[in-house]
Order: sequence, then structure tokens, then C-alpha cells
Amino acid sequence: MTNILPPPPPPKMSFQDLFAISKGEHQGVWKDLWNKGTYHYWDRGEASPSLVDFLKDHSEIIQPSSEPLKALVPGCGRGHDVNLFAALGIQAYGLELVESATEIARKHGDTLPPPPSPGTRNYITGDFFSNEWLDRLETKQFDIVYDYTFMVALDPAKGLRELWAERVASLIKPGGVLICLEFPLYKAYDLPGPPWAIRSETYIGLLETVGFERIHHDKPTRYLPAGKDTDMISGWRRK
Ligand SMILES: C[S@@+](CC[C@H](N)C(=O)[O-])C[C@H]1O[C@@H](n2cnc3c(N)ncnc32)[C@H](O)[C@@H]1O
Repeated sequence: MTNILPPPPPPKMSFQDLFAISKGEHQGVWKDLWNKGTYHYWDRGEASPSLVDFLKDHSEIIQPSSEPLKALVPGCGRGHDVNLFAALGIQAYGLELVESATEIARKHGDTLPPPPSPGTRNYITGDFFSNEWLDRLETKQFDIVYDYTFMVALDPAKGLRELWAERVASLIKPGGVLICLEFPLYKAYDLPGPPWAIRSETYIGLLETVGFERIHHDKPTRYLPAGKDTDMISGWRRK
């Protein structure tokens, strides 16, 4: 009698596996995830509590001036942090890679009360590294850029962190501020991403090289569980 064993169940694919098997076509994976509406991997349903507190503690960054302040959130996901900036009276722009993502963000934004003047919510589609989306905007530079889980979602092996730093510097007005919620600081370097491991020193190396000066480096009092109590939040002024 032959004893035929059933085939083993297919291995469960992790989020990181999706990127590992993509042969480096990471943008395609992000687009696919958005097109399928599978953003639950990273979406937390609210603005980062660490950012909320940081803006309260460093309110000078968002003081109204003669011109409305403009903020950019690259890789904004469903736009929770965009909506936070807008609710503070800032003209907020969220950038996402694919139309299905900005549509989801726009629909979510439409469920919220209108932002106080001069705040606006704008969700735009484009590749952070291309000028195509910027050419469509009147605004070419921003007062504030916020990064959370965007730079660390770019493959460091492709030199994208250095390109991110150069691009961020070109998108911020002189005197403007970049805010980074530093994550995942706990992660070992040999583990697959996204997100890829990073340390506070890496931010210093990347950002000082392109003309930023670190003006704040705080441990948030409120943070998301994903950071395992290690997140830091930093503010960088463009010289
Ligand atoms: C880990 S998710 C984080 C989303 C959001 N920051 C949040 O916290 O919910 C990274 C996002 O970056 C977007 N993204 C990746 N590469 C991009 C690029 N080159 N330009 C614009 N967005 C990009 C992806 O579509 C994805 O939504």
C-alpha cells in the first residue's frame, strides 16, 4: 500500500516576502497593494500621536506667518498626518504613488470636518523622485515635510536613502523644517524590509550632508506599539 502524503500547505507569505520576491520592483508591489485595497499592513487609522505631541511642544514650527504654511507628507498612505496638518490651519499635501491610494485618502478626508482656514487637504499622485507631480503644483517648496515610514520603506541597498535626503532638501524652503518620526530603531540590520532598520545616527549622516541642522531630538511620550518603545522624533532646519 502506498502512503501518499498530502502536499505541504503553501508557506505563509509575510509583507516582507512580497517585496523580496518582486525582483526589486518595489513600486509595483506598493501599487498592487493599494489597487487591492490591502493597506491594513501599515495603516493605523489615526495621525501619529508622537507627531501630535511634537507639534504641541514645538508650536513655533507651525506659527502662522503672512503666507499660509505649506506641509508635504511623502508616502502619506490614507492621509492621517496630512489631515492633522490641515486641521492646524496648514495647507497640507499628501503624496502617494498611485491613483487608487490618493482616491482612498481623498474619500477618507471627505468624511472629516473641513479644516480651519487657511488649512487645506490635498492628496496628489506621483513618484516622490519625479518632478511630474511637482510641475502640476503651484507650490514648488514647502515649509514643513514630515516623514514616517516613508524613507525606511525605500530600499537602502539601492542608494535610495541618499536620494531621499537630496530630494527632501530640494523640497524644503531655506529655514523650513523636516520632521522625522524615527522608526524602526529597534530592528536588526540583517532583517528584511520594508521597513528597513535605521538608527538616529543614520538620519544625522544623511541630513547634515545635504544642509540640515538638527534642532530637536525627542523621545515621544506617546507612540505607536510598532516602535517597541524606541521611536525618536527629530526636527531638522534647512540652512
Ligand atoms: C509603509 S507605507 C506608510 C504610509 C503612511 N506614511 C502611513 O504611515 O500610514 C509607505 C508608503 O509609501 C508609498 N510610496 C513608496 N514609494 C513611493 C514613492 N516613490 N513616491 C510616493 N509614495 C511612495 C507607498 O505607496 C506606501 O503607501
